[in-house]
Amino acid sequence: MSHRFAPSLALTALLGLAVGAGFFLFPGCARRACCPPAVPSTAAVAPPMPMPTPAPAASQPKAAPVAPVAGEPGKAPAAVAGDAATEADAAAQTHVHNYFRLSPRVASGASPESEADFEALAAAGIKSIVTVDGAQPDVEGARKHGIRYVHVPIGYDGIPDATRLELAKTFEELGKLGPVFVHCHHGKHRGPAACAIARVMLDGATHEQLVAEMKRAGTAPKYKGLYEVAETFERPSADALAATVAPMRETAPTPAMQQSMVLVDATWERLKQVKDAGWKTPADHPDVEPSHEATILAEHFRELARLESVAKEPDAFRGHLKESEEAAWALAKALEKGALDADAAKKAFERGAASCTACHAAFRDNTHRR
Ligand code: HEC
Repeated sequence: MSHRFAPSLALTALLGLAVGAGFFLFPGCARRACCPPAVPSTAAVAPPMPMPTPAPAASQPKAAPVAPVAGEPGKAPAAVAGDAATEADAAAQTHVHNYFRLSPRVASGASPESEADFEALAAAGIKSIVTVDGAQPDVEGARKHGIRYVHVPIGYDGIPDATRLELAKTFEELGKLGPVFVHCHHGKHRGPAACAIARVMLDGATHEQLVAEMKRAGTAPKYKGLYEVAETFERPSADALAATVAPMRETAPTPAMQQSMVLVDATWERLKQVKDAGWKTPADHPDVEPSHEATILAEHFRELARLESVAKEPDAFRGHLKESEEAAWALAKALEKGALDADAAKKAFERGAASCTACHAAFRDNTHRR
């Protein structure tokens, strides 16, 4: 569970400024411990979007009524990032990490995690959510607030043509219900790429706009396949769209490797919290037992090595897996109850982090896996 951010003068002033100016310079960094004050991306430093005038959408679906648009009430949706920043959006920003209202029809951000998060999205007028994350979405949580989920999992290597069409058709259909919120896990990489398709379909956004929006969301330049979507995606022809059947599943099956990674990641996030708490049980997560978490991580990697699909991977892949497992065991040892070795813990943690990154660079980030 995430901790809540106590409303502060600074936040109030920031939001006031942002709403007043008609755009948000800063994404809602109010919630997750993972969000450092200075993000090593353009997210925090992006200048006000120098948005070119958007091309008119080929066929603008009738927009569902949205809350009055700050700055230009009554004007046709301008599809300029931030124009749609209402008070409800400002509130959603404090709930959903990396939340960006990109237009009256489209918003993007991180995964909603609590009842209050869905409530905030509903208050911002969101009628449906598309998740491209590997994790299974909280379909019921959304439904309670009248929001419909659609799950289209993607990887970090880009979006295959068939999936682009599926997303295009999905956004066209969901746009009829009202504003759509698009997310992955952190709302930084895959979500913004999928969101680019929504922006083309529902707002007729230009490639320049899309690339600028991905940069602002903090999409890392190393994800070339994801940027390629923003750089090249065009609205499919009417015939192509008519011929596409979008399954619009609330939950979609994901490969075993991806499922395991979702679990690895959740464990890793808890270990980050342990690290931030000086290698102790974090005050707001009394259930987390440091050494036990590291043991679970090691066991995830051991299980992974047994997957049928992993047996078919190159030796280097299994080498990374082994390295990750060993780093996790070393961390478990360093964190043993009553025998904490902070130096060893730091070393093991860094070794583990480097191993995640190395395997992803070699086998995930620009490698077509499906
Ligand atoms: C042996 C290689 C390897 C190691 C080590 C590894 N990963 Fe991964 N990871 C992958 C691959 C491959 C994928 C893509 C799986 C897919 O989409 O099919 C992935 C996907 C992910 C994802 C995306 C899940 C989703 O929602 O789609 C996350 C998050 C992740 N890894 C986190 C981590 C973390 C954190 C670590 C280290 C503690 C780690 N991984 C270690 C290979 C690895």
